[in-house]
Amino acid sequence: MPKIGDIELPDFPLLLAPMEDVSDPPFRALCKENGADVVYTEFISSEGLIRDAAKSIMKLDIYEKERPVGIQIFGANLDSMLQSVEIVEKSNPDIIDINFGCPVKKVVSKGAGAGILKDVELMVSLTKAMVERTKLPITVKTRLGWDESSIKIVEVAERLQDVGCKAIAIHGRTRAQMYKGNADWRPIAEVKNNPRMHIPVFGNGDVDTPEAAKKMRDEYGLDGAMIGRASIGYPWFFNEVKHYFKTGEHMAPPNMKARVEAARRHLQMAIDWKGEKLGVFETRRHYTNYFKGIPNFKEYRMKMVTSDDAADVFAAFDEVLDKFGDYEFSA
Ligand SMILES: Cc1cc2nc3c(=O)[nH]c(=O)nc-3n(C[C@H](O)[C@H](O)[C@H](O)COP(=O)(O)O)c2cc1C
Repeated sequence: MPKIGDIELPDFPLLLAPMEDVSDPPFRALCKENGADVVYTEFISSEGLIRDAAKSIMKLDIYEKERPVGIQIFGANLDSMLQSVEIVEKSNPDIIDINFGCPVKKVVSKGAGAGILKDVELMVSLTKAMVERTKLPITVKTRLGWDESSIKIVEVAERLQDVGCKAIAIHGRTRAQMYKGNADWRPIAEVKNNPRMHIPVFGNGDVDTPEAAKKMRDEYGLDGAMIGRASIGYPWFFNEVKHYFKTGEHMAPPNMKARVEAARRHLQMAIDWKGEKLGVFETRRHYTNYFKGIPNFKEYRMKMVTSDDAADVFAAFDEVLDKFGDYEFSA
């Protein structure tokens, strides 16, 4: 069974990927309830943390019920990263994860996220210094490389392991690919097949069906799957994968009552955590998936995503249950 430091995980664990504005405490709680084995916060700026920026600090909130939970940080400045390790430790996470994979320009241009893939020496020395600074397990999330011509992930992963990184999650795309094309899991399997590698190697990218997860496990031999987009507005995905592993069959999709209930709890937890205004606003992106595929749904979706008032959104949920309660979702 894979272990991250002393954290014991089940066979082929499913990890909720860090996702900006998505992987917040309410969503993590729902994913955890529905089978995620490890959850991560969205990436948090080390510069924001050391400047005590309220937005960054709030992202450190974690809850007992979601453990094991990893807090993900990013940055390219050693001092800032080390100082932020101390700040992060106060939230008592189970894992500190370093983001070496974010492809967006504003992050990359500062040498952080995937930008660091151009400077493997810095990537290794930052990781080493962070491992030495904390007793918590340090893990890394990264991409295959900067671009196709510079894929050195086997060597990079081994070096990260050698400086004490406790697990690595690899998104099977390069920075140059952003989110285009298909994730390539072959180089991730090469990392896993390196006989010197003994830390867990988790695969990431395009695990969007139970079959894909099975393929990652059985054909690519990886230690677990990190799941991002397939879970947005669909936290049931984790249990669906586990059910498929166990039975070879697809679990029945959640019915309307379960979906309305999840949307309702999601919104309520978001309001409790960040207040009505932000809670209403930031939960909107999930509704499309909660209620995907329902014909003639636009009017109701519009109510959910345009109303600023929580009571109106809750009323829209009631209406949906009333009107579409018998709708049969296909698997
Ligand atoms: C909305 C969104 C936000 C993301 N934010 C982060 C982030 O904060 N940190 C990170 O390491 N990756 C981030 N990612 C990348 C995902 O963690 C993951 O690597 C990527 O989506 C591929 O996995 P998937 O095909 O399962 O979605 C983000 C992806 C999306 C779609």
